[in-house]
Amino acid sequence: MPTQDQIREALRAVIDPELRKDIVELEMVRSIDVHDNGVVDVKVSLTTPGCPIRSHFQTGVATAVKALDGVNSVNISFDVLSDEEKGNLQRKLGRGGPLPSGALAQVANVICVGSGKGGVGKSSVTANLAAALAAEGKSVGVLDADVWGYSQPRMFGLGATRPKVNEQRKIIPPVAHEGIKVMSIGFFIEEDAAVVWRGPMLHKALQQFLEDVDWGALDYLLVDLPPGTGDVGMTLAQLLPDARFLLVTTPQPVAQKVARRSAEMAGKVRLEIAGVVENMSGFVTPGNERFEIFGAGGGQLLADELGVPLLGQIPLTMPLREQADAGTPLVVADPDDPAAQAIRQTARGLIALTPIELPVMQTVTPAAPSLDVIPPRPMGMSLPMA
Ligand SMILES: Nc1ncnc2c1ncn2[C@@H]1O[C@H](COP(=O)(O)OP(=O)(O)OP(=O)(O)O)[C@@H](O)[C@H]1O
Ligand SMILES: [Mg+2]
Repeated sequence: MPTQDQIREALRAVIDPELRKDIVELEMVRSIDVHDNGVVDVKVSLTTPGCPIRSHFQTGVATAVKALDGVNSVNISFDVLSDEEKGNLQRKLGRGGPLPSGALAQVANVICVGSGKGGVGKSSVTANLAAALAAEGKSVGVLDADVWGYSQPRMFGLGATRPKVNEQRKIIPPVAHEGIKVMSIGFFIEEDAAVVWRGPMLHKALQQFLEDVDWGALDYLLVDLPPGTGDVGMTLAQLLPDARFLLVTTPQPVAQKVARRSAEMAGKVRLEIAGVVENMSGFVTPGNERFEIFGAGGGQLLADELGVPLLGQIPLTMPLREQADAGTPLVVADPDDPAAQAIRQTARGLIALTPIELPVMQTVTPAAPSLDVIPPRPMGMSLPMA
């Protein structure tokens, strides 16, 4: 059986996504009881009773403790820090105290947009959701993590843009409509050049997109994942343990299979699933006749299966595709389109689910950008081109 101290050490793997420190350091582990039969009781103290990240702690604590030899089961309970304890914590994190460090220290929420299969509209949803969050007054960045089939430069009309670097040698992300900062491998390679990636290079490239890009303060960083469940998800989960998943699906009621695949993916990368978005949910003719082209109910089934909310149902509309091809997200070009409306509703749902505010930061005066334009093969990425 592990000792209390060993369990306490293991609990350092559980990070409070809001405060960006582990729950042991934050003194949020109220008690640990180890029983002879391999049962461990852990009580975690939350900052507020309705803590939105409770399930994050639930999963994190269970995973960390169950991994220890001799542990059969874990009971997790919660209480709330007293006002005095909260005061202590505040002082500990204090205004004058150490600021959150790391490249994404000023990014409040990282949301990975993924799916169990390709072509369901991840990239379209990402671009439009970014625009919708911006319309709600949020500061937003988009990281295109699809290095093989990148699409965000086109969707934001930034096709031929080359990012610049500032004096700290940080890459300045090109800024699109509504102030959205966009980063994509598409800015660095010649159009239509085929890229062959090996695992470590992929990891390095994504790491650079997170660490060497001057994202600044953002309410949301949306990450457009490639289709499938491969290396990219794993790498991101490793680099961004606080990220959450938004799953995009289509309405076919054969959701069981897709649900299982999606859940497997999320389980494999150990990221919390925030919710489901159903895309291509019916087509409404100008005469207001509705056709369920891809069936109905798949989004709800998937959400139910995963025990998360269905955040939106986005209909098929021609302008959504046309605007994506033209380089202006539909939410910006025609906010009244039914698909734009649905995406704006999705954004509001996401905001309600992620009430994490930007950490209070000293404002850093940005250095004046220098004018070197990054050449097509920058950043020591040594992109192999076939
Ligand atoms: N609601 C919609 N209405 C009309 N067209 C749509 C809708 N959603 C997506 N599309 C179109 O479907 C195609 C695929 O969408 P998109 O590229 O966003 O999917 P994806 O899941 O990112 O694909 P991949 O798996 O290849 O990355 C695009 O041409 C896009 O414009
Ligand atoms: Mg895509």
